[in-house]
This record gives sequence, structure tokens and C-alpha cells, in this order.
Amino acid sequence: MRIMFIGDVVGEPGREMLQDLLPRLKKKYQPHFTIVNGENAAAGRGITQKIARQFFDLGAGVITLGNHSFDNKDVLEFIDDEPRLIRPANFPESVPGRGYTFVKGTMGGELAVINLQGRTFMPASNCPFEKAEELVKLVRKRTPYIFVDMHAEATSEKQALGWFLDGKVTAVVGTHTHVQTADERILPGGTAYLSDAGMVGPRDSILGMEREAVIKKFRTGLPVRFTVAMVRPQLNGVIIDMEKDRGQATAIKRITIDDDHPFME
Ligand SMILES: [Fe+2]
Repeated sequence: MRIMFIGDVVGEPGREMLQDLLPRLKKKYQPHFTIVNGENAAAGRGITQKIARQFFDLGAGVITLGNHSFDNKDVLEFIDDEPRLIRPANFPESVPGRGYTFVKGTMGGELAVINLQGRTFMPASNCPFEKAEELVKLVRKRTPYIFVDMHAEATSEKQALGWFLDGKVTAVVGTHTHVQTADERILPGGTAYLSDAGMVGPRDSILGMEREAVIKKFRTGLPVRFTVAMVRPQLNGVIIDMEKDRGQATAIKRITIDDDHPFME
């Protein structure tokens, strides 16, 4: 059984690249479950119903979010009625939407997908470790296949969650930093781990944004408007294989596609 996870899709360049490559990636890798992080899909902040529909039509089974979940108000119109779109589970209970979901595989079986958000250098939220413990217990009653998107800034916090959940879930993959890390591995208990999946977005940018504005911000501290850079994009993601009975990971492989690493069918 195979999971394909695609890192944060950033703005129009990211969406266009996803549109071009997601169906081809699915054909090449034949995943049973496909998950996309879409929290930066609408002009770098949040997601709209139209974009969510587009991602589902392209073949995403689940869309995860993060700290920008509600930046585009359009999401409030449909998040409660869309079980395939999840926001971090450790947001307060009164926040619209849900933090986990189940998705059916192309060859049967069911994957639980849990979205969490870190608390280090991030907006305030409830404890992701406590929430993870609670949800893993709950979803395990239904399926041993469990994927966790840990949307967080600090590598240490992501690693801590990976080790905390080792042996209890199939995979812990980080999002949010937009820079793919090269630390993919299977932890001793059988959990696949990657600190950050990276992004689908403009490559010659700073985390997807126009470089000049970000440099000005760092140099002067003055308020600046960040806009998505309209330059050639890159695509980052990860493939995780798992064994059938207990859902333990057997392989993890990163995907990087850009001008230096062209897509091979
Ligand atoms: Fe984020």
C-alpha cells in the first residue's frame, strides 16, 4: 500500500504545476492514497472552494491545511461540509472544520489522516502531542493506516512528534517551512518520518514569495506586502510504502521536480 503526499502548494505557480504533474505522478507512482497540503494555495494564504475542488478533481483524496487555514474567508462557507479538507486538530474545539478524516484507498483499505500544528514560533494552539495521542487511539479502532501532517516551524518539535508517535502511526511528515529536508527514514518502531516535505511553488523565491519584499523586510523591518513570486515552480513531495497488516512503513522516498530534476514519466 502506498501513500503520496505533496508539500504546501503555493499560489498560482504551485497550482499550475500541480495541475500538470499530479495526474502524471499518480500514473507513475500508483499511490493508493493521495494527500496534498493546500494551506497556501490561494495567493499564498488559505484556500477557496474552487481551488479545493480543483485539487480533488486532480486526484487529491485529502487536503491538509495549517496556520493559514482561515486566511481566505471563502473556506468558512464549505469547510464544515467537506470531510476531505482538514485543518490542524489541535485548534480550539469551537473552530470550524475537523482535524482528521478517513479516506478510502484505490484498492480498498482506509487511511486516517491527521493534521496537527506546532507551537514553537507559531500562533497559539492546544498541545499537538496530547491531541495526537487522543486521535491516534481513536482512529486506530478503525484502521492501522495513519498519516500525520505536522505543520510546524521548528524541526525539533517535528522530530519530537515523530519519535513520540513511532510505532503508533504509519508516517509523520512535516509541512510549513517550504524547504524539503533530506532526513527521510523509517524510525525503529516502523513510522516513516520526514521533517519537511517542501513545497509546490515558485523556485527562485523566498519560501514562495517575491524575493525583493522579503529582503526589504529583513533589512529594514518596515511593513511590506508579500506576494507570490511568478517564476518557474518546483514540486516537492514524498512517497511512503506500508505493509498491509499493521500499517508499518516499509519505505520512504522524497520527490523533487524542478529545472535541475526534470520529471521522468
Ligand atoms: Fe504554514
